Amino acid sequence: MPSRVTAFAPGRVNLIGEHTDYNQGLALPFAIAEGVTVTAEVLPEPVIEAVALDLDAEDSFRLTRPQPVTGWRAFVRGAVGELTSAGVAVPGARVEIAGSVPRGAGLSSSAALEVALVLALVALSGQAGPDRAELARLCSRVENDWVRARTGLLDQLASLYGQPGHALRIDFRSLEVLAVPLELEGHRLVTLGSGEQHANAASGYNERRAECERACGLLGVESLREVTLAIARELPDPLDRRAHHVTTDNQRVELAVEALGRRDLEELGRLLDASHASLRDYYDVSTPAVEAAVRRLKDAGALGARIMGGGFGGHVLGLLPPGAEAPRGSLEVRPADGARLLEAR
Ligand code: GLA
Repeated sequence: MPSRVTAFAPGRVNLIGEHTDYNQGLALPFAIAEGVTVTAEVLPEPVIEAVALDLDAEDSFRLTRPQPVTGWRAFVRGAVGELTSAGVAVPGARVEIAGSVPRGAGLSSSAALEVALVLALVALSGQAGPDRAELARLCSRVENDWVRARTGLLDQLASLYGQPGHALRIDFRSLEVLAVPLELEGHRLVTLGSGEQHANAASGYNERRAECERACGLLGVESLREVTLAIARELPDPLDRRAHHVTTDNQRVELAVEALGRRDLEELGRLLDASHASLRDYYDVSTPAVEAAVRRLKDAGALGARIMGGGFGGHVLGLLPPGAEAPRGSLEVRPADGARLLEAR
């Protein structure tokens, strides 16, 4: 059994397909180079001593009964609690967390933290542990039940399955993950902060999810994946608009995969714009700060730009053609490797 392990999990960018994951729809994310690193070292006592190096903050709790708390501590306690329930014998450990994903930016620092924590703690237990799809579900329970953000599986699957040079077409009904080559022909994808932090647990995210559930209840379907545009129109406002967005964004994922296959970057840009308009006008998750960031990217010549992630602030994504100058403060993003163990000894 190793006594010290280090795991890394990346954040993610989502090219297209937003608020579709918890509606059993489609999305096209990729893992990025920035992420969270967790080092875990066995302790002789059945306690977890956790240190968030960037925050200069600590937590300490007994392994047997982690109590719910708030903030970053909820992720550590949740990871230990959920792994234990899944039959992983997590040993007492000192856990050090360091991150390079900006928090609250819509780049999934939360999923990167959960995934790095569970990979490190499973490795430290010396057991094989759950497979990657099951780990994604386990991380999502950490977020849903411990952090109280009712998010779907987009971020965790992207972090766990990332591949350099590829986006991932994820079908959230079957959990099938297909690697799609991302050949941009000199174009660049960049993210730009809106200056507004977002937190899924505190934003309108949970409300949107509840609206989708209400829409399904009224239509008597299991998920919005089954709903056509004609059926969506029968719903009362705003549920009709929520279902309209989900249905059309699923279609845009398919169209984006086809456009990438043809290397048709102009079309990809149009799809990004259409997704943004839908998130703003039908899903109501934009804010004035997000609109301003989208405008800055469009003014810089972006072929398309849109809200990314849960919305209500965070970063926006833009596709810049060759030669266009990225706005100051933007971050170029490229598909990178998924979560992995860096060291075990
Ligand atoms: C957040 C959630 C994801 C997903 C997106 C919206 O990033 O964590 O599960 O729902 O919002 O697509």
